[in-house]
Amino acid sequence: MEKFVLILFAALVSTSGASEVVYAQVGEKVTLKPQVEIKSYKYVYWSFGKQDGPQLAWLNHLGGQFLTNATSWNKLAISDVSLVIKQIQPENFGEYFCKITSKDPILDIKPITLIEIKVSLNPVGPLLPGQSLTLSCDVESSEKPEIYWMNPRGEIMNDTKGTVDVRITNQHHGKWTCVVAKKKQVKIDVTVIDLSPAPSLPQYTSTSSPITIPCSIPTQISWLQIKAKGVQEVHWQFFPETSSGLDSDGAQRLFSLSLKDTLSWTQEQDRELSPAQDPKTGNLDLTRKLGRVEDGGDYVCTMKFENGVTLDRTIHVQVLQIISSPGENILSGQQLNLTCSVGRPLPSDLHLQWSPPKKTSLPSLKSRPHPTHLTVPEVSTDNGGNWWCTLYQEKKQLTSAVITLTIETKLNVWMLVIACIASVIVILLLLILALILHRRRRKRYLRHQLCRCKNPKPKGFYRT
Ligand SMILES: *[C@@H]1O[C@H](CO)[C@@H](O)[C@H](O)[C@H]1NC(C)=O
Ligand SMILES: *[C@@H]1O[C@H](CO)[C@@H](O)[C@H](O)[C@H]1NC(C)=O
Ligand SMILES: *[C@@H]1O[C@H](CO)[C@@H](O)[C@H](O)[C@H]1NC(C)=O
Repeated sequence: MEKFVLILFAALVSTSGASEVVYAQVGEKVTLKPQVEIKSYKYVYWSFGKQDGPQLAWLNHLGGQFLTNATSWNKLAISDVSLVIKQIQPENFGEYFCKITSKDPILDIKPITLIEIKVSLNPVGPLLPGQSLTLSCDVESSEKPEIYWMNPRGEIMNDTKGTVDVRITNQHHGKWTCVVAKKKQVKIDVTVIDLSPAPSLPQYTSTSSPITIPCSIPTQISWLQIKAKGVQEVHWQFFPETSSGLDSDGAQRLFSLSLKDTLSWTQEQDRELSPAQDPKTGNLDLTRKLGRVEDGGDYVCTMKFENGVTLDRTIHVQVLQIISSPGENILSGQQLNLTCSVGRPLPSDLHLQWSPPKKTSLPSLKSRPHPTHLTVPEVSTDNGGNWWCTLYQEKKQLTSAVITLTIETKLNVWMLVIACIASVIVILLLLILALILHRRRRKRYLRHQLCRCKNPKPKGFYRT
């Protein structure tokens, strides 16, 4: 029965004719599996080039095996009945034959053709945006299978027949895939030198929160690669924001990177911002412990190359502020208007949250989201203290601002009247007291005088 199954299989395979094709690159590991269902075997033979060509390996049912030790086949293994080439050498491409014996019949199994795929980039090495790149993918055989490329986002490059020409953008950075005959994929890395993307939202800060202006070189790109591409200049610029928009005339150059052996920042205009310690790590951020009202504007991080390519990123900075009308020192009873804003409408996914002093309760803070403007019709001492305003994106806190209000009590008319009456009473009481004291003293004086006349001193007491 077993024999019958194997014979039947052999018949099927031999009628199907052509050989099995396996595509691979030099250096890859490949497993050549005989295309036959094997129930049992006595011997498995693998040979190369011809049916009776040089024997590469054999295996018997008792576990005995042989692997050639010819130098071009020094990375062979046999696993189950499959032949494993752990690291393909150029001379390993060709036809492989597998023979399996089961008791007496010898099974002829479809040969397997190992075909080389060649993938190349022109030019090689890291690229700058704007450069052109040719990716080619080809197989070493007369019968060409279907070949196409996929870009790093997995999109098929149409009508390319194995060769793609692209003008490099940062979208092209990553692994490109050549797909051969719909079954074999070969990946190749394309490195595009560029700065990391700028944050999509502005960087928000306030006078009570830190400020960070991010700019970085992606970790997979080294300074050596950037130098090799001919970097000429790296600098930071600032375009302050004025009430009428950005002030491009007021542009300030903040820092330049000196590109000598040791990279170091040279400060040009002092805004008390500090660049990250070691530019070599790719971190080009500017930071300060606390934001300032005049920090609002656009910061531009620029990298220029010899061939004219300029890479830059613009980071918008907005400052969250609480403005109080009439001011921070207020008399109780006055109207108070507070505004928390970045000086322009917020994107729809951002919202504010006020945290007034503990004893304050305002109807306008009962519902969410909180308004930009708050009005307290008559402030009381309960409203004194810290008013916080926090900016959120969903649940993420972006920044928060604070204002400290001092409320002074104002004396009203009744209080004045009472105060006047009270002081009049106090004065009267004082006068009365003074009068009483005066009288008493006078009485005592008089009595003293009277005593002297009534009781003259004994005569003997005096010397004469
Ligand atoms: C492998 O090659 C060495 C000489 O390089 C030889 O002595 C040895 O017999 C060979 N082994 C086999 C199994 O062919
Ligand atoms: C290739 O063509 C398909 C359909 O025409 C299209 O969806 C796809 O975006 C194209 N790929 C590229 C990389 O242009
Ligand atoms: C507060 O705002 C209201 C309306 O916006 C305005 O009429 C009022 O004069 C403002 N009060 C102060 C003290 O600024």
